Amino acid sequence: MNTFDALNQRISANFFDTERKLSSQQLTDLINYAQQAPSAFNIQHSRYLVVTDQSAKEQLKSIAFNQQKVSDASAVIIVLADERGHERMPDIAQQGVDQGIYDNNVRDYFVNATQGAYADNPTAAHDEALRSASLAAMNLMTAATAMGLASGPMIGFDSAQLKQTFNIGERYNPAMMIAVGYARPGNWQKKPRLAAAQVAVMDVRPARDHALSS
Ligand SMILES: Cc1cc2nc3c(=O)[nH]c(=O)nc-3n(C[C@H](O)[C@H](O)[C@H](O)COP(=O)(O)O)c2cc1C
Repeated sequence: MNTFDALNQRISANFFDTERKLSSQQLTDLINYAQQAPSAFNIQHSRYLVVTDQSAKEQLKSIAFNQQKVSDASAVIIVLADERGHERMPDIAQQGVDQGIYDNNVRDYFVNATQGAYADNPTAAHDEALRSASLAAMNLMTAATAMGLASGPMIGFDSAQLKQTFNIGERYNPAMMIAVGYARPGNWQKKPRLAAAQVAVMDVRPARDHALSS
């Protein structure tokens, strides 16, 4: 399936085949595709908890306000946003040097810039982590579609309870969870989308009013 078809065909599924399970290779592939998403400074704030055990999914379902798809989908992937991701920057930036992509000066720039941007600014760190994790989540869902799978993003869960139940460290903010598996019949078709002309302003110029000015 090409990218355009995957983007057009993805839906948020509610109904999953409870009999068909994903292989560990499929789950690993999904995470690796998610990891190809961009992130601020390549911090790669996203972390993933993959829930496949049925009793674990049942507990997760109660945290997710009893959304049935949490129990039915082969896996539920909790996408976490590391709000202290910038602390890993020395290691991440060094990898670019080791692979000959940039030199030590660039590495040091990345380390200093990320410390400057986020170390004393928890709001910026929170927002950046959530942004980057959301892009990874979208990659994961597009990849799932391309792999012939169905996915369903969810923010309908009790975040504090989730963190407590699954022993999630303070620095990790649950961005969303994604039910993933094989679809069973009954899912809605793609819901309508606003057209480009309704949401985009073309050829914007400074100091000129446009549809989004008020
Ligand atoms: C961040 C986010 C959170 C969502 N949370 C839920 C949820 O908790 N439960 C649910 O059934 N759908 C959830 N959805 C799915 C949306 O309702 C769905 O994406 C939207 O209606 C558009 O439908 P489509 O994805 O099938 O095109 C969520 C979607 C996003 C992006």
